[in-house]
Amino acid sequence: MNITIAPSILSANFGEISEEIERVVEAGASWIHLDVMDGSFVPNITFGAVAVKSFNKPQGVVFDAHLMVVHPEHHIESFVKAGADIITVHAEATHHLHRTVQQIKEYGVKAAVALNPATPLEVLDWIYPELDMVLLMSVNPGWGGQQFIPAIYKKIEKLAHKFHEQGLAIPIQVDGGIKPNTIRRAVSAGATNLVAGSAVFDNGSSTAEYREKIQALLQEAEQGVLTRSQIV
Ligand code: DX5
Ligand code: ZN
Repeated sequence: MNITIAPSILSANFGEISEEIERVVEAGASWIHLDVMDGSFVPNITFGAVAVKSFNKPQGVVFDAHLMVVHPEHHIESFVKAGADIITVHAEATHHLHRTVQQIKEYGVKAAVALNPATPLEVLDWIYPELDMVLLMSVNPGWGGQQFIPAIYKKIEKLAHKFHEQGLAIPIQVDGGIKPNTIRRAVSAGATNLVAGSAVFDNGSSTAEYREKIQALLQEAEQGVLTRSQIV
């Protein structure tokens, strides 16, 4: 599976968000990670579907909506209409996870489930075949710029092993604290899609700088691919 870097616009300059998206796409990003926070599931509030709809979406780019909101099932339609291509809901935020995943898929977009650092992988055991991606949080969600929680390397490895055993080719996205010094080990453990906020954006910069930051992450990630254990 190829390595994908998904820059999170949480750390971008919101005063010129469409230009920021354009710059980071020109710099090589094919995914844009959208961190939606409601001030209830997580302490922070960011933006909702109305804002996402106003962003310029470059041709062919994947809008990856990470919903850190309670009752995400109430917001699926509005994010689909706003341009989301993949919608990630938290297992901790919805009572009927299987139904919520089905609802997402009924709209013809991809469905993913996120797990907070303390949530065991087993909550997904009965729905893996329904999922287009699993997101393992490597920080407690709420803010950008936090430190990667080292215990999550083992969690990634365990999930990758599980997928390998079951013959499932489901991408593992990892979100939080992804930097040149953490990405290698995360990829080596089995992550294939890496969200990077503060490692790419720094409240606004140039296309050239974003390209450099993405390349630095990819270079380390490639080293991680080389050191992947045989079973992954
Ligand atoms: C955390 C968000 C992350 C965040 C990552 O709640 O879900 O996507 O933006 O930011 P960094 O890469 O700075 O840890
Ligand atoms: Zn996120």
